[in-house]
Amino acid sequence: MLIAPSILNADNMFLGEQIQEAVDAGITRFHIDVMDGHFVSNLSYGPQLVKDFKRHFPNVQAEVHLMGDKVNEMVPVFADAGADLIEFHYEAVENPNQIGSWADYLHRHGSRMGVALNPSTDVKVLTKLAAKIDQALIMTVFPGFGGQKFLPDSAERIRAAKEVVDAHASRPGRRVMIEVDGGINAETAKIAQAAGADVFVAGSYIFGKGDIAGQVKELTAALTE
Ligand code: DX5
Ligand code: ZN
Repeated sequence: MLIAPSILNADNMFLGEQIQEAVDAGITRFHIDVMDGHFVSNLSYGPQLVKDFKRHFPNVQAEVHLMGDKVNEMVPVFADAGADLIEFHYEAVENPNQIGSWADYLHRHGSRMGVALNPSTDVKVLTKLAAKIDQALIMTVFPGFGGQKFLPDSAERIRAAKEVVDAHASRPGRRVMIEVDGGINAETAKIAQAAGADVFVAGSYIFGKGDIAGQVKELTAALTE
């Protein structure tokens, strides 16, 4: 079980302090939402944020969730910026047969790769990808904004995704992590965990309530009880 707070709902004027507070509470990975104003209507961070993050927190993982159309252009840019894991959207890729070569590229660059699926995308597309990718991000809201509600059919999708990746992960012992993102709180995280999720992204639940360490503790407790 891993909690990866999304910094999207953090206070940009105090970003370093807020990340540090979460690190002190036990967080080892952050989720950085990159939005291009086209694949989703919102805009957020660029590669400089990832560079600065890794300069200040070299031992903390930076996971980049790329919500952008220009996958071929952006993956190398964020790999060079130092991202530890990059996940782009299946829906943004022109030719799904190329996804495997991106996994090879990122592994050569010492980074891991994930593929993100919108709530409307059939999880069966993971069948052909499971042997290559490190993580499957099952979106539990439609991407673009923090603070949305966990979609009710998410548990079923997580369960189905897990079945597919477990059956097609190429060799015994290799595990494709299932990550969930959107509307995660202590309650929905437990639902997602029971359905097979391993990595829990939470934005407004961690950064939107004024007590970052307390929220990390609560979510950790909910997922380990
Ligand atoms: C949604 C982003 C999420 C979002 C999560 O487009 O991918 O990572 O910031 O925020 P919450 O936890 O508030 O739904
Ligand atoms: Zn995200």
